[in-house]
Amino acid sequence: MQTSNKFHPWFHRYLLFLLLCTFILITAGGLVTSTQSGLSVPDWPTTYGHFMFAFPLDQMVGGIVFEHSHRMIASVVGFLTVILVFWAWRSEQRRWVRNLTYTALAAVIAQGVLGGLTVLFLLPTPLSVGHATLAQSYFALIAILALVTSRWWLNTGDDSSSRRLKNPLTGLAMMSTAAVLIQLIIGAWMRHSDAGLAVPDFPLAYGSLLPSLAPGDLERYTSTLIAMDLRSTADGTILPSQIIVHLLHRYWALVTAGFLIALTVRLFRNSANNHILRRFALIVPVLIALQIALGAFTVLTQKSVSITTAHVVTGALLLVVTSVITAVSIRLGGKPVQKTVHAFRPEEAAA
Ligand code: HEM
Ligand code: HEM
Repeated sequence: MQTSNKFHPWFHRYLLFLLLCTFILITAGGLVTSTQSGLSVPDWPTTYGHFMFAFPLDQMVGGIVFEHSHRMIASVVGFLTVILVFWAWRSEQRRWVRNLTYTALAAVIAQGVLGGLTVLFLLPTPLSVGHATLAQSYFALIAILALVTSRWWLNTGDDSSSRRLKNPLTGLAMMSTAAVLIQLIIGAWMRHSDAGLAVPDFPLAYGSLLPSLAPGDLERYTSTLIAMDLRSTADGTILPSQIIVHLLHRYWALVTAGFLIALTVRLFRNSANNHILRRFALIVPVLIALQIALGAFTVLTQKSVSITTAHVVTGALLLVVTSVITAVSIRLGGKPVQKTVHAFRPEEAAA
């Protein structure tokens, strides 16, 4: 059965606009954490007792600039998601796409509530990790919606291929997406349990590949961190869990990079006649190399605000790219790619 949904250019453009707004929102959220402004506004949903949108601009100073503007941008994205649901309800014929928009709305509401609770409960690690992870998942969901409403999607493939999930590219793309998602969660756990600089050197960790966690060694690491001004005596001894989560993030980065390199090779092999796959084959290695470099510099610059935030944002982009590659690969199924592209070019020109 051929998919019969009509292409709605403005609906698709709207989704691209929402994707851009979400990108800005994730950058703004990353800045809140990187500048440690999470508690600059202690109340929620009000801002220092004011209705959020009536907060006086002359009181936007210090960390309030980051936290309050993050809330404002989040409200815009929430509002745009409500419009998205109505628009899809009126114009989208595919039930599964409408369901995806409902999921996006549920996610954005849950995300707002999580953000508020994070503030009211003074940034507990699990809530902050949940907030960080849901943010990136919402971003990936909007990217998938933008893809499935594109002219390319509607003109490519059909809904009948039973070989779709047997495509080796799809399996690899799914595993890469899962590896990136796990890495994001470990990264968020590290970031929100104050473990980002639990190991202050790179590429080694306290001079070795696997530092000892013996109590005497933990005391020695703590003295090193105090000498480097990364910890105060009042913070007590560094916890083994902080070092473990940090090392886990570094080593899982290698696993993730392995998946992404394999994905790149597979994309190149499948891309002989497909410009989309070729483009992804160029984007993936650039993003992973950039992300590892940003991770290294996050440590070496002792968490420079811009570099750390860029690391968070590039992590989100990696999730978007791997999710989109998975969806593209599912759409292409096991079919020869060239046929699909040539068959639909004239239609594209006519539409
Ligand atoms: C669509 C809704 C929202 C999205 C996509 C979003 C996204 C994000 C992201 C990506 C971060 C950075 C996490 C990190 O770097 O680890 C963040 C941090 C934060 N967000 Fe949101 N946010 C949303 C709504 C809200 C709302 C409504 C609040 C209300 C107070 C809020 C409060 C916070 C706080 C306090 C932080 C800092 C947490 C910390 O440092 O532990 N967010 N947000
Ligand atoms: C596959 C490669 C990597 C990905 C996808 C990735 C992703 C992320 C993400 C998304 C976060 C923030 C999570 C959040 O709060 O939302 C993070 C945090 C962090 N990452 Fe990575 N990362 C990678 C590799 C590395 C490497 C190689 C290092 C080097 C040591 C590193 C160091 C860090 C540090 C130190 C933080 C915490 C920053 C803080 O405490 O504020 N990352 N990572």
